[in-house]
Amino acid sequence: MTDPLERRARLMGPNVPTFYDPPLHIVRGEGVWLWDARGRRYLDGYNNVPHVGHCHPHVVAAIARQAGVLNTHTRYMHDGVLDYIERLTGRMGHGLDQAIMVCTGSEAVDVALRMAQAATGARGLIATDNTYHGNTTAVAQLSTRRPPVGGYPDHVRLIPAPDARQPVGGTADGQAAAFGAEVARAAAELEAAGHGVAALIICPIFANEGLPCLPHGFLDPALTALRAAGGLVISDEIQPGFGRLGDVFWGHEALGFAPDIVTLGKSMGNGHPVAATVTRPEIMGAFREAFGYFNTFGGNPVSVAAADAVLDVIETEGLMENAARVGAYTLQRLNALRHPAIADIRGRGLAFAIELVGETGAPDPALANAITEEAKRRCVLINRIGRQMHILKIRPPLPFAPEHADRLADVLQSSFDTCPR
Ligand SMILES: Cc1ncc(COP(=O)(O)O)c(C=O)c1O
Repeated sequence: MTDPLERRARLMGPNVPTFYDPPLHIVRGEGVWLWDARGRRYLDGYNNVPHVGHCHPHVVAAIARQAGVLNTHTRYMHDGVLDYIERLTGRMGHGLDQAIMVCTGSEAVDVALRMAQAATGARGLIATDNTYHGNTTAVAQLSTRRPPVGGYPDHVRLIPAPDARQPVGGTADGQAAAFGAEVARAAAELEAAGHGVAALIICPIFANEGLPCLPHGFLDPALTALRAAGGLVISDEIQPGFGRLGDVFWGHEALGFAPDIVTLGKSMGNGHPVAATVTRPEIMGAFREAFGYFNTFGGNPVSVAAADAVLDVIETEGLMENAARVGAYTLQRLNALRHPAIADIRGRGLAFAIELVGETGAPDPALANAITEEAKRRCVLINRIGRQMHILKIRPPLPFAPEHADRLADVLQSSFDTCPR
C-alpha cells in the first residue's frame, strides 16, 4: 500500500503541515468526537472550526437544503446574505453594522488591512511579533514564522506580544502601559518613515501567542497611542469570536475596547468556508471607493445558510453559557493537574493554556510535544502554541460537557505521569 505521507508529498509538495507524528487520518466527526480510519474514537479538545460540534445536524441540514434550492455567485440579489449581516452585526455594537462576506480568515484580514489603508490614507501596519493572521501576500507579511521573500517590508512594525509569564515591560501590572509604549514607538517609526499609521491588528486573546488572559482595559494605553497617530484597530476575532469565551460573545468585549474593524472566520460556518470583515459605514465607504472588491463565493446562499445555522445553534443550545459553565469546571480540573514542569494554567471560557518549563524555568517544547503525542495515543486531541511551542493549547468545540472535561483532565494527568521531566 502507498505510504499516505509519501503520496501527499508527491501530490501536494513538501512541507505540507500535519498534526501529530504519525499524523491522524480522520474519517468522521460527531459532536466533540472524531474517528480515525482504524475506527478509533478521539475526544476533540482542540478544534475550534467545528464550533457547535462536528457535523451538527442543524448546520448540515441548512447547507443541504440551500444547496438543493440555489447556489450562485454573489452578483445576484439574495436576501439570505442581507438577513445574515443584519443578524450578525446586531450582536456587535460600536456602529459596526456593515460587512463584506468572504471565504477564509486570510481574506477577511486582507480586506481589513485594505479597509484601514483606504480609510486612513496611510500604509503602516502594527502587529504583534509572534502572531498569525493568514496567508495572503499582504497578511503573511505580518507573520514572523517565515521571513517574506525579499525581507520584511518597511511599512510593517512588529511589537512584542503580551505574555503571561514574561510580561512586556517586565511586570504584569506594568504590561498594559509597556504595550502602549510599544505601539507609540512603532507608530512614531512609521510616521518618520513616511508610511503613516493605518492600523494595529491584534487577536484580542492572543490565541496563537499563548492566551495570556489579560484584564479588561488592557488595550487602553495602546489605543490612546494608536488613535493619536490616526490609526484604526482591527480585532481579529477568528479564534475568540462567537461565544467561545463564555461570558462575552466577542474577544474585544473581554478586553473592553471598541474595534474599528472586526475579522471573522473559522467557527463562523462550523467547517463550511465562510468568513467576514465587519466595519462602520464610513470605513466601508472608503474601502468601496478605493477598491472594486468582488468575491465570487463570499456570501453565497449556501455559505450564508451555514453561518446562519451556526448562530441558531449557539442560541438554541445556549452554547455561550455552556462555554462559561463547562469552561469553569474544566479549568478547575486542569488546575488540579500535577507535574513539576507546569508553570501556569489559565483559561477563559473554553480556551485554555498550560505552560511547561524545564528545571531552569526555560520553556520546555520537547515536553509539550511529548504530552501532546501521549494524549493523542490515549485518544484525546490537544495541541501546542507559544513563542517556543511550549504551551499546551486546549480549545474544544463548544458542546463540551463536564464528562468530556473529566476525560480530558484524566488523560492529561496520565500523560504527564508517563512523561517525567
Ligand atoms: C487569528 C487568525 N487569523 C486569521 C487566520 C487565517 O484564517 P484562514 O486559515 O481561514 O485563512 C487564522 C488561522 O489560523 C488565525 O488563527
